[in-house]
Amino acid sequence: MDKLAIQGGARLRGEIRISGAKNAALPILCAGLLTAETLRLENLPKLKDISTSLTLLGHIGMQVELDDKNSVDLQAAHLDKLEAPYELVKTMRASILVLGPILARYGEARVSLPGGCAIGSRPVDLHIKGLQAMGAEIHIEHGYIHAKATRLQGARIFMDTVTVTGTENLMMAATLANGATVLENAAREPEVFDLAQCLIAMGAKIEGAGSDTITITGVETLHGATHKIMADRIETGTYLVAAAMTQGQVRLLGTRADTLDAVLEKLREAGAQIDVESDSISLRMQRRPRAVSIKTAPYPAFPTDMQAQFMALNCIADGVSRVTETIFENRFMHVQEMQRLGADIEVEGNTALVRGVDKLEGAVVMATDLRASASLVLAALVAEGETVIERIYHIDRGYECIEEKFSQLGARIRRVH
Ligand code: EPU
Repeated sequence: MDKLAIQGGARLRGEIRISGAKNAALPILCAGLLTAETLRLENLPKLKDISTSLTLLGHIGMQVELDDKNSVDLQAAHLDKLEAPYELVKTMRASILVLGPILARYGEARVSLPGGCAIGSRPVDLHIKGLQAMGAEIHIEHGYIHAKATRLQGARIFMDTVTVTGTENLMMAATLANGATVLENAAREPEVFDLAQCLIAMGAKIEGAGSDTITITGVETLHGATHKIMADRIETGTYLVAAAMTQGQVRLLGTRADTLDAVLEKLREAGAQIDVESDSISLRMQRRPRAVSIKTAPYPAFPTDMQAQFMALNCIADGVSRVTETIFENRFMHVQEMQRLGADIEVEGNTALVRGVDKLEGAVVMATDLRASASLVLAALVAEGETVIERIYHIDRGYECIEEKFSQLGARIRRVH
């Protein structure tokens, strides 16, 4: 199994291009199920989660044509199966995003329940309740969600927890429903907005995406379109934190600062100088980072997907910080691995108290999930000596060409088999 070997100590310098956003691409690929015509997507990242999603869509009967320039043509003229099997869903929870589109277009869908996950229990009850409010008949049988509806009906749906994929699933389903659907307490994440832009290009009638109330007026059919997937704000944030930790100077191209306000604010608080242009972000750090406390919450607050990376920064920062995770109940698994590198972290409930140390020391560590593995890469970049990160397949789910990009910035990083 692949590992990453990283020799710490290099200051990151230079420019790299940011890839398309995984968490925008995953729902947008599923939007291709809503029309018989071709949906062309540009800026598709080359990631394990994207190939898993394309395998699932191919299994259902979608024609998938990838070109080598990060574009894909999707056509769901006829679907062979209205089912997402356990074997595919268990490897990627975002597979639940086929439920809304298949049900809306074909009147029936069977999708395996995703089951447990390393970062928390992650139920899908709000996806199910929302579809039931739109008139779907849903039975859970043999570990599968079996949903039926001759035609979904518009409804007012209040979600008591902000859910990103829940909002996306219901928004897609509502595009083909009879009448208007209002999603209240909807997720405001930029990925939800990007999906809405794609659906609107396909002929959907959507207002309010990006706010907490989204109104979707159903139409009879959607048509083909071309959509460019937004830049990955979490990949962007990860490289910015890496540059800040190594006291480097980097420019990230093809990305947008306005999706990253909370993260940029915290980096400035840590002492970074940040310059923003319309499609690039530059960061320069000339001092040891100051410790910064963070608390995760739905967008536009600080993203849970950046929590582990800021924990890594705080490990070597000047001062003491508190890192509070409010979205997932078990998203501190990087703590034990960071402690193996010499970090001083105490966890109590959903808060970690991090006392910055002068240096970390290389060791063998294990990645447990995608963002945890990214945080270990960051810690390794500043650790003395070599760090070997095992189970690196987690990182390939969400970071395109990670060792090439870090090497381009001057890091000493290699993949070993
Ligand atoms: N929740 C419920 N019921 C539901 C759905 C969610 O209680 O029906 C709870 C969850 O248990 C959690 C909270 O609501 O406590 C928020 O979860 P959400 O549904 O927003 O998470 P998600 O849609 O499954 C997406 C991203 C995650 C990211 C979260 C939070 C995708 C494909 N995944 O997950 O990304 O952490 O939103 O921002 O968009 C990652 O990229 O590493 C990743 C895990």
